Amino acid sequence: MRTLIRHGSVVTPQGIQAMDVLVDGETISALLAPGATSDELAGAVDRVIDARGKYVIPGGIDAHTHMELPFGGTFASDTFETGTRAAAWGGTTTIIDFAVQRYGERVQDGLAAWHAKADGNCFVDYGFHQIIGGVDDDSLKAMDELVDEGITSFKLFMAYPGVFYSDDGQILRAMQQAKHNGSMIMMHAENGIAIDVLVAQALARGETAPIHHGLTRPWETEEEATHRAIMLARITGAPLYIVHMSAKQAVQTLQEARDLGLNVFGETCPQYLYLSLEEQLGAPGFEGAKWVCSTPLRSREEGHQDELWRYLRTNDLSIVSTDHCPFCFKEQKELGLGDFSKIPNGIGSVEHRMDLIYQGVVDGQLSVERWVEITSTTPARMFGLYPRKGAIAPGSDADIVVYDPNGHTSIGFDKTHHMNMDHSAWEGYEIDGHVDVVMSRGEVLVDEQGFHGTKGRGRFLKRDLSQYLI
Ligand code: URP
Ligand code: ZN
Ligand code: ZN
Repeated sequence: MRTLIRHGSVVTPQGIQAMDVLVDGETISALLAPGATSDELAGAVDRVIDARGKYVIPGGIDAHTHMELPFGGTFASDTFETGTRAAAWGGTTTIIDFAVQRYGERVQDGLAAWHAKADGNCFVDYGFHQIIGGVDDDSLKAMDELVDEGITSFKLFMAYPGVFYSDDGQILRAMQQAKHNGSMIMMHAENGIAIDVLVAQALARGETAPIHHGLTRPWETEEEATHRAIMLARITGAPLYIVHMSAKQAVQTLQEARDLGLNVFGETCPQYLYLSLEEQLGAPGFEGAKWVCSTPLRSREEGHQDELWRYLRTNDLSIVSTDHCPFCFKEQKELGLGDFSKIPNGIGSVEHRMDLIYQGVVDGQLSVERWVEITSTTPARMFGLYPRKGAIAPGSDADIVVYDPNGHTSIGFDKTHHMNMDHSAWEGYEIDGHVDVVMSRGEVLVDEQGFHGTKGRGRFLKRDLSQYLI
């Protein structure tokens, strides 16, 4: 099957260029200057996609999702089937999900369980990071084995004592192992021990509403843990990637470390760029539970959101992922009625990331090139997928999105919603752009006729080491 995408503007971090893209089978075979050669080819290919007036970008890579994550006595409500279908609808053609090893379990068993959930069920390609919930001699050894299997990044938690938490000694040992095997340590940087005390004290005072989730996780708990993680990484020489950053002070600490030349990186998520403690977490009654996630949404009055956009421009934040971890309001979020600490943590956004961050372009926060860089190209480089993914170049997988900057997308549960949730955390958001065509390895998954994907076509991606190792 050969497809020619014509008359579009190809966007990469390097620039925007009028180019026609020839797709042969599963890969991009040529970029052509629009003109005679392309005109001739148009008559000889199987399909022509007209991208006039539109951007042609590499498919989105969401490097942080949690399909079916066990959390707080329930499971994230998207399966790999529903979650990757929703991702495709929104122009994301690769996800990297987190396989889970809980304390007392073998890492290899956790990974096998994740393969059992994902293999044969995905609409788009997928890889795994591995959560290490119990650092010991066996799990450290397992990290080396997993690197050989294409799992080249490991998430540790400084939060959630008794669940996923690692102490400083365990973190140090895992970082030493990562330095040895070339993998990347991803850190959930919040001081969970201090937070648990603040939570118990708040509940004892009768403060049970969702907003207290945010108030008991003040920015200092994120900044302190960020600083500690960076210092531990510095001792070991391991690279460090801090996930879901929301506090401007924590990112400032990261920026200072980067200015010193340390190999440390930060990720943020759409919820921290747009939503706030006051408006969403503080919504009347129990409504705020929809936006309970960790790290928490931050105060707009304190100006975190604008600072995060700025840090995206300066590359102190390198990637926008979703931390997609959806829970229904009924029966799942409601587990925390009367006790905010029992609300399962997470927001569903995998379908909307490309649109929401494109709106940042429209609003003057980012360039078009930077939009592509932080949603596709850098995630590919960071997590060992480049140039197979994250590029519009000959030889790369034909994961391509045709994006219409003159289109419009109204986000809402009754409008554009394919995630397996009973509400949208993004209800009412209006986007001045539209995902028109989504192609995964040469197959059109989404176009104006609707959805054409096939469950199980998504392949497991054995990832290389990060390109950002030094
Ligand atoms: O609230 C969140 N972030 N839920 C998912 C688990 C995690 O810590 O990433
Ligand atoms: Zn986390
Ligand atoms: Zn997460």
